[in-house]
Amino acid sequence: MKTPTPERIVLVGFMGSGKSTVGPLLAQTLRWRFVDQDALVEEQEGLSIPEIFAGAGESHFRAVEAQVADRLLREKHIVMASGGGWAAVPDRLARLPEGTVCVWLRVSAEEVVRRTAAEPGSRPLLSGPHALERARRLLEERTPFYSQSDLEVDTEALRPEDVSARILGFLVDRYPAMDAKRLRSLNAQ
Ligand code: S3P
Repeated sequence: MKTPTPERIVLVGFMGSGKSTVGPLLAQTLRWRFVDQDALVEEQEGLSIPEIFAGAGESHFRAVEAQVADRLLREKHIVMASGGGWAAVPDRLARLPEGTVCVWLRVSAEEVVRRTAAEPGSRPLLSGPHALERARRLLEERTPFYSQSDLEVDTEALRPEDVSARILGFLVDRYPAMDAKRLRSLNAQ
């Protein structure tokens, strides 16, 4: 049986798709807690993501990332911004706990490269030459995973506030018990 209201929202999508920008806006409207998976990985390891990749390597990063998510997905009333690679594992989205709404924030590889150029060195998988080719290839590989989400929102032409509003619209349509009137009025502020 479907839960009458969702208990958590997971934002998935490629690097630079806006998960960490949209997440806090959405959480604020819902009066839920925002959690950033990457930030928790960094906190747990006491290192930045580029440092983790350069030291212990990507496979260690992926193990910690999975652990952090398993812990977070037991919590209620959270909006979680996942790291861009977390959802791209077989069965990961199919096995999300009940009460989880998964939203894919879509963005093109070209836009990703434009957006992430403002934070050089922050994304180990895109640093160095041929970033656009690598972004295109990775995005293509990951799209079948991301597309298992409950909702997709193309973020390219939308402001973060509008992306958040789209997600809220989806929630109130699908879960009338979410008090549509209250959410719409909060969202209009
Ligand atoms: C990654 C995305 C990053 C971060 C790490 C790996 C990926 O998170 O987890 O650099 O594999 O796509 P963002 O999506 O928040 O940039």
